[in-house]
Amino acid sequence: MKTITECIREALQPAFSACGIDPELAGVVLSNRPDLCEYQCNGAMAAAKRYHKAPLAIAGEIVAQLENCPLFEKAEAAAPGFINLTLSPDFVSAYLQDMQAAQKLGMKQAGAGKKAILDYGGPNVAKPLHVGHLRAAIIGESLKRIYRFAGYEVLGDVHLGDWGLQMGLIIEETRQRHPELPYFDPGFQGDYPAEAPFTISDLEEIYPTASRKSKEDEAFAAAAHDATVRLQQGDRGYTALFRHILRISVNDLKKNYEKLNVSFDLWKGESDAQKYIPDMIRGLKEAGLLHESQGAMVVDVAEEGDTKEVPPCIIQKSDGASLYATTDLATLVQREQDYHPDEILYVVDKRQDMHFTQVFRTAYKAGIIRPETKLTFLGFGTMNGKDGKPFKTREGGVMRLEHLIADIDEAVFARIMENRTMEETEARKTAEIIGLAALKYGDLSNQATKNYVFDVDRFISFEGNTGPYILYTLVRIKSILRKAEENGTKLSDRLRPAGDASEKALQLLLARANEAIADACEGIAPHRICQYIYEVSNAFNSFYHDHRILAEEDPEKQNGWLALLGLARKVLETGIDLLGFDAPDQM
Ligand code: ARG
Repeated sequence: MKTITECIREALQPAFSACGIDPELAGVVLSNRPDLCEYQCNGAMAAAKRYHKAPLAIAGEIVAQLENCPLFEKAEAAAPGFINLTLSPDFVSAYLQDMQAAQKLGMKQAGAGKKAILDYGGPNVAKPLHVGHLRAAIIGESLKRIYRFAGYEVLGDVHLGDWGLQMGLIIEETRQRHPELPYFDPGFQGDYPAEAPFTISDLEEIYPTASRKSKEDEAFAAAAHDATVRLQQGDRGYTALFRHILRISVNDLKKNYEKLNVSFDLWKGESDAQKYIPDMIRGLKEAGLLHESQGAMVVDVAEEGDTKEVPPCIIQKSDGASLYATTDLATLVQREQDYHPDEILYVVDKRQDMHFTQVFRTAYKAGIIRPETKLTFLGFGTMNGKDGKPFKTREGGVMRLEHLIADIDEAVFARIMENRTMEETEARKTAEIIGLAALKYGDLSNQATKNYVFDVDRFISFEGNTGPYILYTLVRIKSILRKAEENGTKLSDRLRPAGDASEKALQLLLARANEAIADACEGIAPHRICQYIYEVSNAFNSFYHDHRILAEEDPEKQNGWLALLGLARKVLETGIDLLGFDAPDQM
């Protein structure tokens, strides 16, 4: 359906035409003087320049044309040439009624017929998830949901880091501990054991031990490097061991992501891209794009107009080894071949900006990707501690994701127990739901590209621009609706024209739901959804403060309010779902 802004614009256009002014100039925006009006049109100012006439006079003429327009309760010309618009309550409630009945709040399906791949998560196999992976998961999951809401067919790909030195480290460490295992016997011809020789907790110990060793012990480091090369060359035993590591890690990762309410459609990794590398390199050569530079094979990707130096994309090192960029290019080959996407969006730490610039340019230049395929890099900022430095544990180490989550849940639990008499097991369950909302909202409410400070106390607060505040509002709405039903009121969805200012304000905000979500999708900006549902929550709480909904004796009024609550609930529930969290039944 049309957005409310489009409805207003379309009502203004005939008025512009009637005054001999190009209707294209009838742009409408939210008022920046809410004390004067609800929407405004600045078109008379632009028209003044073009038609050499006083802007206020033009605005006056247009306003005169709007006199009988049913959309407006008031249309006024204001110096120097604004057209100030106040919507008629009938129009707003009718718009909301349509929205109520429409699919997906009447949101335009900008992505209909399009396929997008979202590359987020990017955990490294066998290494525990840490807070650095948190943002990728949280932002990516939200964008996946937003894209789907806009009609895209979306494939979320975790893109595991499963092809690096960490594999060689684990394999070599295992070899030194258990040289008798068949994986290390070059003459072994039989089937390797189906059971892995280690568990996830073993792996969690083996990797850091091996990693530490490689820094202190050169011979070990060299052996781990050799093991990596051997694996990459397809050694049978090493490959069997690699499969074990992968399977165990992925099972564990899935559990962790589940706790975050994050999921993926594809569990592909860097290792899956390897088989596309030789052909890809041949292609680059044949296209004349590859040349030698300081022993390595590179593709030049600098472009005229670059404001900073963009170094060549290194495809192959002098020893023939491929690099991160090689793998990402080969992954593009595979994605193009298997899925033929219209768009690929990468949600990765912004410090990888240059890497993606190089990869994207190479991909277009080499025709790995069709020119019409959109490659987008959303680089996110760092999550910092209160000291402004990247978030660490109290001991100064890297904070593991599961510990971070446990800390938040604990803090929320303590808060619930402080002033409430919720049963303990119930409180624990509720704390998990609220904790996740606190964490995700605390992250998503910041513009993704910016760094932000992780502040548990602020994030879990029930007041202010926080996840718990949104949930609190939603729980309040649900409880009123439940009580109304318990009182025997049959909930209707007939909205009524607003009768006062706070009712109107809430209605106006709800009428913007589809626009706000579309805007977040277009701008790849979940924080706009946060901002929007925060405003809705504030508007609802003002409305709630001004109205005694359950005690209202006029059934027509009460029904209208309950219908409004029903819609507010739907909008907030949609909002939090798009952000990737749920609401508890009570708080
Ligand atoms: N594993 C990488 C890391 O931890 C992130 C992968 C991001 N995705 C990609 N296609 N490069 O830094």
